[in-house]
Amino acid sequence: MKRPIAAIAGLGTFVPEKVLTNADFEKMLDTSDTWIRERTGISQRHIAGAQETTALMATEASRRALEEAGRASADVDAIIVSTATPDRLLPSVACEVQAALGATGAFALDVDAACPGWVYALVVAEGLLAAGTARRVLVIGAEKLSAITDYTDRSTAVLFGDAAGAVVLEPSDGERGMLSAVLGADGTLMELLWRPAGGTISPPDHASYNQHDYYIRMAGREVFKNAVRSMAAAAHTALERAGLTAEQVDLLVPHQANIRIIEATANHAGIPMDRVYVNVDRYGNTSSASIPLALDEARREGRLRPGMHVLVVTFGAGFTWGAAVFKW
Ligand code: ACO
Repeated sequence: MKRPIAAIAGLGTFVPEKVLTNADFEKMLDTSDTWIRERTGISQRHIAGAQETTALMATEASRRALEEAGRASADVDAIIVSTATPDRLLPSVACEVQAALGATGAFALDVDAACPGWVYALVVAEGLLAAGTARRVLVIGAEKLSAITDYTDRSTAVLFGDAAGAVVLEPSDGERGMLSAVLGADGTLMELLWRPAGGTISPPDHASYNQHDYYIRMAGREVFKNAVRSMAAAAHTALERAGLTAEQVDLLVPHQANIRIIEATANHAGIPMDRVYVNVDRYGNTSSASIPLALDEARREGRLRPGMHVLVVTFGAGFTWGAAVFKW
């Protein structure tokens, strides 16, 4: 089995207090609690307030991760924020977090790989540790999806929630840590899940505003099929690279987008649902915050314990996908 280069030394999350339930959506849209639960597995999602920016959520999650790792912000060499919902297009959220933490010795950058972004960022951080460019990296997934969700579109509005999760990544002791990772992308399918306007190709104007082009658009069924196919393949490759079989996985922590995607992926990966962590019911899809949020909850519930083999797997806009195996 491969010896890990990098290990998680601390994990922290931030979830806004405000909750939007399926009953709330019944009052806003032509939908029902039954439809949402049966088709997605979601019962509620947390929604950030005006003051709860992506950077604020990322900073709070980072503070908690640093505290658990027993580190100060001065000990951080690099800050990587994965987000599809930056507070502004320039500069990065990571620079906002760097300032808020007073991490004066850290360089800072954002990674944009949609839902898999946190796994992408982990792989970048592992490379920084391997190269000796950094000794300690904050790897954050932070999303304010409510800001780009079209609350008049019932096929997407019910899916998304806001949250942040952060880890402190440090060199491994050679036993615990990331055993393998795999990343992938297919940009030819980008229009199946995207936000058409808001960047330089379509700067703010009335037409795109009226067409709701600033919001997430999705071809749900196509996304579903691609998600299951890519996540199952990524899980297989990550396990192969780690020298493990599906039977040796103690816990699968998939991206929390939809219970049916999770069940189909677990089934293809050969991992029974009693070894799969699910919290999509309470948070909806929080994009790149979803895996650190699920890892944190699994730990609190005693489902994730030291020494376990953990497989994480994810898929999102781009399309992008990824998987990683940890010895926890
Ligand atoms: N309430 C009631 N009816 C709805 C709702 C809703 N909230 N949303 C859609 N419908 C209707 C549709 O309008 C359609 O009605 P019609 O037959 O009269 O046209 C009907 O339900 C079926 O629509 P489909 O889109 O075919 O429904 P499907 O079973 O595919 O479920 C869903 C839709 C839940 C979006 C599903 O396709 C899905 O989960 N896709 C994956 C999307 C996802 O998770 N994306 C997140 C980003 S990618 C990622 O994180 C993996």
